[in-house]
Amino acid sequence: MSLLILGIESSCDETGVALVRSTGDAAIPTLLSHALHSQIEMHQAYGGVVPELASRDHIRRVLPLATQVLAESGQTLADVDVVAYTRGPGLAGALLVGAGVACALGAALNKPVLGVHHLEGHLLSPFLSADPPEFPFVALLVSGGHTQLMRVDGVGRYEILGETIDDAAGEAFDKSAKLMGLGYPGGPALSRLAEQGDAAAFKLPRPLLHSGDLDFSFAGLKTAVLTQAKKLGDELEARKADLAASTEAAIVEVLVKKTLAALKQTGLKRVVVAGGVGANRHLRAQLNAACAAAKVRVHYPELHLCTDNGAMIAMAAAMRLQAGQQQANSDYAFDVKPRWPLDAITV
Ligand code: KG4
Ligand code: ZN
Repeated sequence: MSLLILGIESSCDETGVALVRSTGDAAIPTLLSHALHSQIEMHQAYGGVVPELASRDHIRRVLPLATQVLAESGQTLADVDVVAYTRGPGLAGALLVGAGVACALGAALNKPVLGVHHLEGHLLSPFLSADPPEFPFVALLVSGGHTQLMRVDGVGRYEILGETIDDAAGEAFDKSAKLMGLGYPGGPALSRLAEQGDAAAFKLPRPLLHSGDLDFSFAGLKTAVLTQAKKLGDELEARKADLAASTEAAIVEVLVKKTLAALKQTGLKRVVVAGGVGANRHLRAQLNAACAAAKVRVHYPELHLCTDNGAMIAMAAAMRLQAGQQQANSDYAFDVKPRWPLDAITV
């Protein structure tokens, strides 16, 4: 049975809407259209995301984006079979906008709605790429709020192998960038600057690299970057690219080595990288080289689908429905889950 799924993402600072077609069998669902509005410019003046402003902006953007994706794919609201939205984790107010709009649409259209886990969206986003993975695989989930290594045996079959005990990798990029005066969101800016720097210029710690487990810690690295920046004083401006390159190298080395350790531990020969930091070029280059040497296949989402978007939410919903999830929600009551562990969900 063919299903048209409208996906809505509003967990943080991006409003994303997309349409995905599921053919209902084992075939990989296809993306018909997707549209995104990034709030980055709006939050830039404040140096980070302002939750109340984020919620209000989602309200303004979500319906025009829905109209846009329907028009672009030649569909109408009446063609939509299921409305999917991000139920969590994320900012409570921002999540409520997407959930409220999705449930209102579902009620008006008399169609089922499905709340999706944001990280499951990231995790399954490589299935939208030209080189989709096959289960089982190791997943390295690296976003602004999460850093996790997972064993993924199928939709809803997630086992956390290791995770950060403090800051996430994206946070390490963002906080280091902020104290170098690179603004928000710092990850892409730091990474651009790093291209002109010498990664061996500063010796920075590789936290938990030899801990023997698959956990991460990035808070100490951020402190080391701060100490180094203070030590440089007036020289910081001239050495910023070197410090950026050294910071990026430290984060990437830990991510790559722990991912290889996870592959060794599980015996799996396939890895999926997802989440905003997955867009980092240095990470991709290092991981590709390490995985080629270990004869491991690496899969990434398309670059433009690494950060938050509606396509991954519609895709996760489509794959859940294909895996047998009920198209529930008969009364259109909803809640959101600002905190929601990924291994708490099944199909
Ligand atoms: O997955 P995402 O869009 O949002 C969350 O769910 O958190 O990830 C955003 C994070 C931010 O910390 C951002 O700085 C980081 O991904 N990021 C990058 C790059 N692009 C985005 N970090 C390093 N290099 C990049 N090219
Ligand atoms: Zn995300």
